[in-house]
Amino acid sequence: MNARNPIPCDIAIVGLGVAGPFQLTREATEIISRCKRTFVADPSESIAEYLRTLCPEVTNLMPVYKPGAHVKIIYRQIASLVVAAAKETSPVCFATYGHPKIYCYPTLLIQRAARVLNLKTHLIPGISLLDTLFAELDVDPGFDGLQVYDATDLVIRRRPIQTDVSCVILQAASVMDPYQRARMDNLSNLALLQNYLLEFYPANHKAAVVLSKSHALVESIKQKIPIGRLSVALRRVSRLAAVYIPPVRHREIADRDLMEKVKWPGPVFDDRWIGIARRPGRPIIGPTPA
Ligand SMILES: C[S@@+](CC[C@H](N)C(=O)[O-])C[C@H]1O[C@@H](n2cnc3c(N)ncnc32)[C@H](O)[C@@H]1O
Repeated sequence: MNARNPIPCDIAIVGLGVAGPFQLTREATEIISRCKRTFVADPSESIAEYLRTLCPEVTNLMPVYKPGAHVKIIYRQIASLVVAAAKETSPVCFATYGHPKIYCYPTLLIQRAARVLNLKTHLIPGISLLDTLFAELDVDPGFDGLQVYDATDLVIRRRPIQTDVSCVILQAASVMDPYQRARMDNLSNLALLQNYLLEFYPANHKAAVVLSKSHALVESIKQKIPIGRLSVALRRVSRLAAVYIPPVRHREIADRDLMEKVKWPGPVFDDRWIGIARRPGRPIIGPTPA
């Protein structure tokens, strides 16, 4: 804790990234080192150990994730531990893997409780699995757009899927299972998700099942699998995996007049279009002639 320059909050909510200490940002490191106590929710083995070098008191929250417990109960326990500690002595830190505002319910519970108890919170982003997934798969979602769903929410609300937009499905390997366990053994839940996806996609359209590495020295797992066989693949993978479904096709331009307004006219010299300069033998990497 830096007494001359304390952090301006009671609870810092910090994202740790998904690869242990290797994706910890300078900002997160600084905040953690200024807190009196840090609570860590991260399946990566090495991170709690590393945070002990930054903060005088570090509590690993992984024992709260008891096998067979309902996740809502786990999240409430986490929030109450963090908020109670902040009432006792602040600032404290809730450090969670990935980004603390991407599918992280304890963050919301802590923020709600803090508001009621007049405690100030401050949120620091982290590298999320969405960031690592796009790097792993070499995908830029800017080209076709992006839809991100929680698997259970997708099937119970029967959310419409746009098949010309990239689709990421989180918690796919734990669809319809709110209890803490290492692997999904209920194949019918996974089949439910697969059948729902087959209402939109052809069975042979390939999805990627991705488990981003949780340490710099291990390999990420990436498996391309037809949607018609997704349930079997999800049964074998860790519940920490995500599913990426590429678009089936690109969406056509709907308004050509609007498109013309933003189109690059090409290189112009003396007010005359001189065509796209290309060096012989070089591959085309820029815009192609209309
Ligand atoms: C509750 S969300 C938490 C996401 C986290 N807050 C983040 O920003 O990355 C957990 C889901 O994220 C995805 N996920 C988490 N870690 C992952 C990893 N290392 N590789 C791929 N997907 C991951 C899985 O779909 C998992 O079920």
